[in-house]
Amino acid sequence: MKHLLSIADLDADDLHELHRLTDSFVEVGQRPIPKVPTLRGRTVVSLFYEDSTRTRLSFETAAKRMSADTMTFSVSTSSVKKGESVRDTVETIEAMGIHAIVVRHSSAGVPWQVAQWTSASVINGGDGWHEHPTQALLDSYTIRQRLGSLVGRHIAIVGDIKHSRVARSDVLAFTKLGAEVTLVAPPTLLPPNLDGWPVNVSHDLDAVLPKVDVCYLLRMQRERMTEALVPSLREYTALYGLTRRRASLLSTDALIMHPGPMNRGVEIAGEVAEWPNAVMVDQVRNGVAVRMAVLFLLLASEGPVGE
Ligand code: NCD
Repeated sequence: MKHLLSIADLDADDLHELHRLTDSFVEVGQRPIPKVPTLRGRTVVSLFYEDSTRTRLSFETAAKRMSADTMTFSVSTSSVKKGESVRDTVETIEAMGIHAIVVRHSSAGVPWQVAQWTSASVINGGDGWHEHPTQALLDSYTIRQRLGSLVGRHIAIVGDIKHSRVARSDVLAFTKLGAEVTLVAPPTLLPPNLDGWPVNVSHDLDAVLPKVDVCYLLRMQRERMTEALVPSLREYTALYGLTRRRASLLSTDALIMHPGPMNRGVEIAGEVAEWPNAVMVDQVRNGVAVRMAVLFLLLASEGPVGE
């Protein structure tokens, strides 16, 4: 595999292989010195045109744990402010001799363009509303770790599906791994056309909650909304927020998940986020191991540098 751009490019066997590889990097993460020499001499660049806490730090931690060198490009301090195009930026970074670029951009498709302009491996760290493949890998890994397998599991994805690249990647990964997915949202927060999405749709969270093995919540992505899609956040919370009362409708072993950043008190009650079955911390921890597995798959097969 040269690039990781989309979950659509992977089949169930690829996902299982990545999960198995992740198991071995979870083990590395538990060692007193959680570091292996596997990617010595390789350079991984994060090229983030959009804000990020988890994804960027997670990729950088993953690269460092594998002994790769890392470079961070942050738009606010770069020549992008002086009008440099993505292409010129990529060609500049390329000339420094690099092996992988992790790209996040607010426009869908930018990682595919970047892949045309570089000989390095490109990893999609989130492109617009489109895809966020490593998030889906770490989410499906976390479910597998907690519940054994996704086969036959029922997963509700709740909230602002329309603007969510996480939802798009998760639906693909979860269903490829044998889960059944129900999207729960007001009509205004669903994509206008769900043709070809292998999902059920509901507008009634109370009715769905007792039946699910996983309740996956999304943030209201207000920075992507150009119009008011819900009357008010309070009303959204009243109908679709995982309040304490609603969370008690879940079966005792159902998981509560969220990709972060959470807006406590909007899509999830602050105290529900602390429940033992809320696995957000596991998601973040597994995110590092998943990204180590991805970097390994893309970069380690070329053999040791300089030997
Ligand atoms: C998400 C993103 O940026 O796509 N966060 C993440 O990467 N964990 C989701 C969000 O912004 O709500």
